[in-house]
Formats: sequence, structure tokens, C-alpha cells
Amino acid sequence: MKIERDFHMMKGDSEFSYAENSRIQKRVALAAKPIVEKAVREVCIDLHPQSMVIADLGCSFGANTLLFISEVITTICEDYNNTIKESPMEVQFFLNDLPSNDFNHIFQSLEQFEQLITQDCACKGLQPPPHFVAGLPGSFYTRLFPCNSVHLFHSSMSVTWLTQVPEHLDGSMNEGNIHIGATTPPSVAKLYQNQFEKDFSRFLQMRCMEIVPGGRMVLTVAGRKSKDVFNAGGMTMIFDLLSQGLRTLVAEGRVAKEKLDSFNIPVYCPSADELKQLVQQCELLDISDIQLFEMDENRMHDSEQAEGTTAAHTAGQSMSATLRAATESLIASHFGEDILEEIFTVFACNFTSYIESEVEKSGITIITLYLQAKH
Ligand SMILES: C[S@@+](CC[C@H](N)C(=O)[O-])C[C@H]1O[C@@H](n2cnc3c(N)ncnc32)[C@H](O)[C@@H]1O
Repeated sequence: MKIERDFHMMKGDSEFSYAENSRIQKRVALAAKPIVEKAVREVCIDLHPQSMVIADLGCSFGANTLLFISEVITTICEDYNNTIKESPMEVQFFLNDLPSNDFNHIFQSLEQFEQLITQDCACKGLQPPPHFVAGLPGSFYTRLFPCNSVHLFHSSMSVTWLTQVPEHLDGSMNEGNIHIGATTPPSVAKLYQNQFEKDFSRFLQMRCMEIVPGGRMVLTVAGRKSKDVFNAGGMTMIFDLLSQGLRTLVAEGRVAKEKLDSFNIPVYCPSADELKQLVQQCELLDISDIQLFEMDENRMHDSEQAEGTTAAHTAGQSMSATLRAATESLIASHFGEDILEEIFTVFACNFTSYIESEVEKSGITIITLYLQAKH
């Protein structure tokens, strides 16, 4: 699979779609909301743009994409109606993702969204600023905008995806694993690290050309608390359970061992120090804030309402659907569509057993970087 051409979250509104299975990402977006609001306010106050240009990079589709737009509009209209008395600013949103993203899903939901946001503002006695929404297909590891044209970049849970499986990670170098697992050789972990450094540095370089002086960026990623690259908490555990499921299918003769050995997920979970270092190397950005929060294991799935065995079962189903919505296109292209039902059923069982076990549970570490372009 060529990631930048073919990779996508599961399209549409079906049971396994991203729109129906992105609750973890929604919780992440809600946790980062105060920083997004702060960034919007600071751009308004410091830069006074007549037309504010805002880009959401790796926007995907569904409720989370619209949630971001609505947070921005609400913040602007509250500030304009309450404090800033000048003529209302216009806002241009660019929603970016890879070309295979379900952009039509976004476009088709915009009309209803507009009605809701207008009603919502009217209830508070406010008027939303004139705003315009455009889709922008393309990789955020390439140039997307003209020089000096964007006031605010936002990206949530997207920059963790690499441009490719790490360069030079060939054949069965990562035998039996699909990511950085317990038996992954340190040299393979290093290849993952190198690929992230290369990709994230390029991402920052591109954005620095496109952002206006003094513009802001809010970047949220799934990262790690630990310095140890082998320990990305809940993310490591999820990939380990998926590898375990694939090893079961190899043992049953459903999947060839070479197929498993040559499959590696192009995701990297950086530590806050790694992110800081790469931003500092770029020299054109100041770090205004960096926040870590831990999404504990209970908030990673939807079992809060259920109890005991049912809760563990619900957790397995919910985590399996979340993982499937994000990785089905990768798994189907490498192993074929025939194994999808089986692998995600096995994963759901593995996750259920993990929840029922006495093992200490790990959460997912979320890191939000708040950056400002130097003048
Ligand atoms: C987990 S989703 C997050 C979506 C959304 N921001 C949210 O919080 O729900 C990650 C998104 O990043 C997109 N993505 C991955 N690599 C990308 C790239 N190089 N350029 C643009 N989008 C990319 C994927 O297609 C996917 O839609």
C-alpha cells in the first residue's frame, strides 16, 4: 500500500466506520479544547486578521471534524460579541487529509452543521462570524498552502502516522511483531525513531513556510510518558494484542508466517522530550506550552455502563471496532479482506481477557504541543 495515496479511516456511517468508532479521539479533542480556544483568542488579539485562515490537518470526517470547527466559531463569536468591537472577522477553514479520506461525508454534513451552529449561537444571543469551509486533499508531509498564509494550524491524533513503514525495515527484521513489541530488536525500534524524526521535522519545516509570523499551532498526538521507546503504555499493549491475534492466525494456518513478519504499522508514539527537541531544532517556533494527559484504561473503551464480565466483553468489542476503523485499510491491503472478521474477533477476545486479567492496566498518553511562529 502506498500510504499517502491509499490509506484511510473506514469510510461512511456503517458499524465499522470511523464516524461511528472515534470516541477515543473525541475524548482527546475535548481534553485539548482549552488550548484550542486559547490559540484562537491569541491569534485574534495579537494578529487581528481580517480573514482568519485555519487548517485542520488529518481532519478525517465525522463528529470530531465538526467539533473542531464549532469550537473555533463559538470562541470567535463569544469574543467578538462580548469584547472585540471591530467589524466581524471572516474565517476560512481548510480541512486537510489524504486523498482517500471520506471528504464527501464532511461535505454532506455541513448543511445540517450550519443550522445547528446558527441555532446554538442564536440561543446565546450571538451571531457566528462569516465562515467558509473547504476540503484540502494531500499529505501534510508536503506543502499544502502558499507562504505566510495560515494563522492557525490544528492537528489531532494524526501526526503519529508516519509517511511509510520505516525506511530499511525489510523482510522479517521485526519477526512476530507488527510494531515496537517486547521482542523487537533495538535496531528496528531505532528505525521507527529515525522515520518519525525525519517525518516530523519535515512536517514542521513545511508549516513554518506556510504560517504567518506570530501564527499558532496546536498539535495533539498519542505519545509516551516513558523515555523507553519500548513502553508507549496502552498503545504498545494494543499493538501487542493485535500481533498476538495475528500469531494465532499463523498457528491456525490462516495467515502465512512471512506475511506477519513483513507487516509493520507506520505509527510512532513520541515522548514529550523527543517532540521538544525536534521543535527546537526547527528554530522558527517557540513552545508556548506542552501538556500531557493520561487517558486511563476505562476511558479507552465504552464499558462504563456495563459491569463484570459484560463490561470486559463490551470493552473488547469497543476497542476492536476503534482499532478496525483506523487500521482496516492497512490490514486488508497486506493480508487480504478475508481475514478481517476473524482477526478483529480474535483481537476483541484478547482485549477482553486482558481487561479481565490481574495485569496492571496502562492508559494512552496524549501530548499537546502549543507552538507560536517566531516574528
Ligand atoms: C486517527 S485519525 C484522527 C482524525 C481526527 N483529527 C480526529 O481527531 O478524529 C488520523 C487521520 O490522519 C490522517 N492522516 C494520516 N497521515 C496523513 C498525512 N500524511 N496527511 C494528511 N492526513 C493524514 C488519516 O487519514 C486520518 O484521517
